[in-house]
Amino acid sequence: MRLLEDEMDAGLSPATHKKACVKMFPTYVRDTPDGSEIGQVLALDLGGTNFRVLLINLLGHAQITLTSKIFVIPQSIMLGEGMNLFRHLADCLLDFMRKENLVKSNVRYPLGFTFSFPCKQEGLASARLTSWTKGFSCPGVVNEDVVKMLQQALDEKNINVQCVALVNDTVGTLMACAYKDPHTAIGLILGTGTNACYMEQLDKVGTWDGDYNEPKQVIINMEWGAFGDNNKLNDIRTKYDEEVDLSSLNPGKQLFEKMISGMYMGEIVRLIILDLMQRELLFLGHREGYSDYKAPLFSRGGFYTKFVSTVETDEGIGFSNTRRVLEDIGILNPTYDDCAIVQHISRHVSKRAARLAGAGLAVLINRINRSNVTVGVDGSLYRYHPRFKRNMEKCMQTLVNKNIKFKLALSDDGSGKGAALVASVADRSSRPKTVLNQQSESDEPGTPINFQRTVFDKTY
Ligand code: GLC
Repeated sequence: MRLLEDEMDAGLSPATHKKACVKMFPTYVRDTPDGSEIGQVLALDLGGTNFRVLLINLLGHAQITLTSKIFVIPQSIMLGEGMNLFRHLADCLLDFMRKENLVKSNVRYPLGFTFSFPCKQEGLASARLTSWTKGFSCPGVVNEDVVKMLQQALDEKNINVQCVALVNDTVGTLMACAYKDPHTAIGLILGTGTNACYMEQLDKVGTWDGDYNEPKQVIINMEWGAFGDNNKLNDIRTKYDEEVDLSSLNPGKQLFEKMISGMYMGEIVRLIILDLMQRELLFLGHREGYSDYKAPLFSRGGFYTKFVSTVETDEGIGFSNTRRVLEDIGILNPTYDDCAIVQHISRHVSKRAARLAGAGLAVLINRINRSNVTVGVDGSLYRYHPRFKRNMEKCMQTLVNKNIKFKLALSDDGSGKGAALVASVADRSSRPKTVLNQQSESDEPGTPINFQRTVFDKTY
């Protein structure tokens, strides 16, 4: 916890920011929503192998409805030339707009872009990618403004949509959760990757280059996945962590993320299983004559993180789920001991991850130091793992200052909804207060016209 706090300060200080591994990017999001936002907006959510297009209706009174469609991003696009990735996103958006009957020549829709990779933001709708993470590696995007690239792809295809805000998924999650619960001050993702953001006071953000008007705060996208990239976590990393890192697309990078998140957890378990097999401590009945080296157990990525969750759902001595998983990866007829050992490994690997994330959150909660703090959380690992939340909470109870009440709240579809809300809140706070409730005569309800003025608040 002390180490993380030091790294956070290094990321926030102009003297050390460049070298710091926890980048602590200011997001230009200064306020949380108050539930009154109204309007219709499109959102794109890119951050893992799935990509979502959403149409979001903000109904006021903290009510949101949405329609969405999931598209798969093929490996060839994840690793191919950058502009092609954005063209693919534009194609998916157009497909969705056609199906939803949104292609109208006289309507220019505003769009919030959830882009869940490390970006140095230069404004709400301007962000330069600093590096790819989570299996993406498209040449020609690092150091470029990804909003510009997306807009270019949209314009090339004459899609009448304007990207007006870019947010990280952590920020989207915080915002979506704050729409319902005003105590929300932290956003956390535990999915393919892991990361957190939180509301920081401007006087603590030395790298801030914007204005100092009220509210004197800004959401910081920590990019905590890179914690340890300067070797400071080496004392707690194991040989399995080293192996996972060395065989990844980005060796030496995202070392904290590689100990925690869904993209790597199954692989850690697999490497431990292989090590125990080699030391003749596991699957003894399979030792002799094991010939199927093509089985998933022997190939990188062959033990999915969802298997860790499945194995841990077994209670008692039946091990029906564990047996099924082991058979899936090529261990036929596992014994009771085989199952018990694999479950033991899974429990410890996921508990370590939960404790690391929990300790990180405790740092943030103690730092924010409000009497009541809600953490908005999203991500497949948190959602589907049977014990992750419990383990994290247990650890946090011992680490969070006793005078602070905290709550972990699952944020449904947070990252997409949040992108819409970010644009909405930015619009609200940049507007002169005196004109807030004047009815516009020309704006028909629900007609997205000029985002800067009217889209989110039909009463403007
Ligand atoms: C990776 C990305 C980060 C994102 C996180 C969770 O760590 O770098 O931007 O928030 O994954 O998706």
